[in-house]
Amino acid sequence: MKKTETKKTITDNTVDPDILAYTVGDDPVLDLNLAVWDCMGTAAHVTMLSEMKIKTPVVTKDEARKVRKALGEIVKEIEKGEFTILVDDQDVHMAVERLLTERLGDLGKKIHTGRSRNDQVAVDVRLHMKDEILRAEKETVELASSLVKFGAKYGRTPLVGRTHLQPAMPSSVEMWATGHAEMIADQLENLEAAYRLADLNPLGSAAGYGVPLPLDRSRTTRLLGFSRTIHNVFGASMARGECEAALLSALAQLMAVLSRLAEDMIIFSMPEFAYFKLPREYCTGSSIMPQKFNPDVLELVRSKAAQVLGLQTASLSLLHAMPGGYNRDLQDCKWLYMKGLDITRTTLRILTKVVAGTSVDKAVCRAAFTPGVFATDVALRKVAAGTPWRDAYHDVRDHLEQLGDEDPDSAVAAKTHEGTTSGIDIALYKARLSQSEKTFKARLSALEKCKRSLFKA
Ligand code: ARG
Repeated sequence: MKKTETKKTITDNTVDPDILAYTVGDDPVLDLNLAVWDCMGTAAHVTMLSEMKIKTPVVTKDEARKVRKALGEIVKEIEKGEFTILVDDQDVHMAVERLLTERLGDLGKKIHTGRSRNDQVAVDVRLHMKDEILRAEKETVELASSLVKFGAKYGRTPLVGRTHLQPAMPSSVEMWATGHAEMIADQLENLEAAYRLADLNPLGSAAGYGVPLPLDRSRTTRLLGFSRTIHNVFGASMARGECEAALLSALAQLMAVLSRLAEDMIIFSMPEFAYFKLPREYCTGSSIMPQKFNPDVLELVRSKAAQVLGLQTASLSLLHAMPGGYNRDLQDCKWLYMKGLDITRTTLRILTKVVAGTSVDKAVCRAAFTPGVFATDVALRKVAAGTPWRDAYHDVRDHLEQLGDEDPDSAVAAKTHEGTTSGIDIALYKARLSQSEKTFKARLSALEKCKRSLFKA
């Protein structure tokens, strides 16, 4: 090489090393999460290129087969942890192109025809998000199921129901646990909304304005298993970041629900309550106070909920003033949604374990019932004897000192309408959760099937 000649990197980079490092950021690490999906996107793109009806094919069908085979091998290396992204590559897209060029020569240099890293990364992120959302759904179902199991185990064990944290009305452990389970399971609707947004194909939008080639965008949509194509190419480029923000919003809301579960468990396991007991090995001690068994794990659920809310806010802050078309700011959305998924999925798994390990002290729960907890029931007995409700209410309120001890179990048994202490349908929860399980399992295997068939040479 002559002195003036430098080795050509893929984009012929002449960027100052400090500037390069700053702009590349954490992509060489974060993009490892996208590597398999990047290969999938490339396999679909190259297949479509080989089918394009033009005079001089960009790649022939045979060449496309060779590329798919080589991509299949790269995927194996990725799965074995033998794949690295160099700072010079900048990101996974150029790392894969570098490997294909090393292995296939000029053919490797053709794969980027009619594509930009902008639509490439948008596809990668969406495929990765689809896979991750399905796994998060699985973990959500597992946590909800563990709460349903907990509820069924302790069943109608009386629990003081609270409003304003003050004793309110008879409740049960089953009602508490399945109430949280239902709130958590309902969050699957938000995850589903995020999944549907992620399930749209931006490929073929190139840098955001299309290319003068007869790209068959619906072909890559089918090959990659997306529900449909994002029609407008400019819109497709603008949608980058939006689906990440929608996912973060679903995750933030789910985390807020989990945080409330954690908060209840912290309160109910305080020595002053002692309704619940966390296993010793789930609690942490103090370096000075030998008596301590602290629920740090549950406290951190609260703090992680705050963090995910922060990530959601960061994503919308990043997007809201960005002009149309690709801007490098978008790269930073990647870290936000990946971090959000990581925190939420870890929290779901840890809470499933904590719920399964928590026990209930039934005697303490019963002993916590004070006469006031039965006040509404007493007033309703007066109604049953013919007193109008408001008179019965005043009668009880004016003579609170006359309220006496009652049997909490009978109070729990007396409420039988849908969803109350004696009207909780465990089978309904099981049916709903197994329905969700069927959906995510079918989608995961469809995605897996797509992946396998793309790498078949
Ligand atoms: N790593 C980049 C990202 O995540 C890839 C796209 C780069 N595109 C560009 N026009 N510089 O956004």
